[in-house]
Amino acid sequence: MKILGIETSCDETAAAVVEDGVKILSNEIASQVEIHARYGGVVPEVASRQHTLSIVPIIQSAMSKAGVGWQDLGAIAVTNGPGLAGSLLTGVNTAKAISLAWGLPLVGVNHLEGHMYANWLNGQKPEFPLVCLIVSGGHSDLVLMKGHGDYTLLGQTRDDAAGEAFDKAARLLGLGYPGGPVIEEAAAAGAPSIPLPKAWIKGTNDFSFSGIKTALLRLVEENGSIDKAAAAASFQAAVVEVLVGKTVAVAQEYNARQILLAGGVAANKHLRRTLVDKSPLPVFIPPLVLCTDNAAMIAACGYYRFQAGKTGGLSLDVVPDLKLT
Ligand code: KG4
Ligand code: ZN
Repeated sequence: MKILGIETSCDETAAAVVEDGVKILSNEIASQVEIHARYGGVVPEVASRQHTLSIVPIIQSAMSKAGVGWQDLGAIAVTNGPGLAGSLLTGVNTAKAISLAWGLPLVGVNHLEGHMYANWLNGQKPEFPLVCLIVSGGHSDLVLMKGHGDYTLLGQTRDDAAGEAFDKAARLLGLGYPGGPVIEEAAAAGAPSIPLPKAWIKGTNDFSFSGIKTALLRLVEENGSIDKAAAAASFQAAVVEVLVGKTVAVAQEYNARQILLAGGVAANKHLRRTLVDKSPLPVFIPPLVLCTDNAAMIAACGYYRFQAGKTGGLSLDVVPDLKLT
């Protein structure tokens, strides 16, 4: 069964065709990163406008690269939250129009659930129960997954999300936007020699990244000529140490069979390497292009939701603060 996935929750307009939830036939992404870079972050109104400009060409491109016509599709899967309301609306309304025109079932997908399902693509077959660390621009969640669609939230951030922390740290250091890739690049030229606070918050599985951000701010304020490479490497090392330490501990506590990594921050090579090194359990990590926002993950997740009878119909609405559990 072929599903067209549509993703417009933030600043990437994406469409993909995926077969049986696992095989990518096409995966098209129109990035707005350069447009938002000049503002140092995503401007919601600008993002909505770009989505309306890009959505039709990107869907046409995904359909033609997959070599399929509308009659070949079994369903349409679309992100309906969490995310920016105006951005989500473009994707959801386009999906509704296609659904209505071609009589195709409509499946609403939670963006975070989609990130997890990037781990089912490219021949990977995770086994339950598993623990997934979702680290994106808006979330840092530790999720226990006992089966398809069966989630328990075990931990989350109490303040900034991991990706948000990377973005803010990059801005503090004057490294640019988006923060994750520029911190990673700067860190490659430095050593993690600066001690920064790590919030272990004993007794919970929650994260906190505001303390390290403030420590970095003080460091920048007190030292005019800070070694940016050392600061970036120290920041990255401290954040990764906590993410990995907590994830491995939780996976063992809940007798998980494996650990999954998901979300934009999963593109970070130091995080990928450290998690694999420190985990006694098998670790699944999507390839780089499937870590950051894309529609193949939405189509993959949509397939399993469709199998479970979770179709939305034309009453599907956007839910900017949609929860996973
Ligand atoms: O999942 P995603 O593409 O969008 C959201 O759902 O938020 O995640 C975006 C976040 C941004 O904060 C970005 O700085 C971060 O992922 N990110 C990275 C890297 N690539 C993207 N963080 C660390 N290292 C990276 N290589
Ligand atoms: Zn995302």
